[in-house]
Amino acid sequence: MTLIFAHRGYSAAAPENTMLSFQLAEEASADGIELDVQLTRDGCLAVIHDEKLDRTTNGKGYVKDWLWEEIRQLHASYKFPSLVHPPGIPSLQQVFEWMRGNGLLCNIELKNNRFPYQGMEEKVIRLIRRYRYEERVIISSFNHYSLTKVHRLAPDLETAALYSSRLYMPWKYAAAIQAKAIHPNVRTVTKKMIASSLASGIHVRPYTINKEKQMKWLIAHQCSGFFTDDPQKAVRIRQQAPSHFPTS
Ligand code: G3P
Ligand code: CA
Repeated sequence: MTLIFAHRGYSAAAPENTMLSFQLAEEASADGIELDVQLTRDGCLAVIHDEKLDRTTNGKGYVKDWLWEEIRQLHASYKFPSLVHPPGIPSLQQVFEWMRGNGLLCNIELKNNRFPYQGMEEKVIRLIRRYRYEERVIISSFNHYSLTKVHRLAPDLETAALYSSRLYMPWKYAAAIQAKAIHPNVRTVTKKMIASSLASGIHVRPYTINKEKQMKWLIAHQCSGFFTDDPQKAVRIRQQAPSHFPTS
């Protein structure tokens, strides 16, 4: 079955990467959530997409220059300014606590391609071990050096290579860096690469899929999963008969 991951939570319906967006993703019956982590000045794993606070919160500057105690007081109500109770930036631990009450998968994207965030991999792995979420998490990143480090430290965890430009035989590349999955930009996805990857035991989960036609195409090709801002729509489409979906 093609798994549906709510990209930054149900980000079409709530501010991205907030507890509200994750809760709505669960209500929409997504199979998993996707979130992004950055590291604060005092080494806390903050769930936020950008290196800077400016786009999605009422704070300014780099996450890495702020203390967690300061960050947790910010509002992250980007695109939803009229919310009476604007949600804040969650910590990864807060998300993991909430996951105790459900069976959702969690794709943790390490946002360490711009700043290397010394020790980020160790912190994420420690937290996964503490909650025993080894079977519920996927660690992805555009920083493939970081993915190989994760694999070295925790070979039992699934790592996934994110990329946005077309790669030559990405299933072979994934195997070379010991990743169990590829997370390509949807523009680079072809029938052949899905089939060859799956045949090689490499999962394929493209991002970011919001168009009905693309959802149907991926489901028809038995793609492992995809990331979408609108998990409710994706779940509805998956419930339809895939034998009627276009395959070309
Ligand atoms: O994990 C897929 C997707 O989240 C990667 O791109 O920029 O939305 O983090 P971005
Ligand atoms: Ca992401």
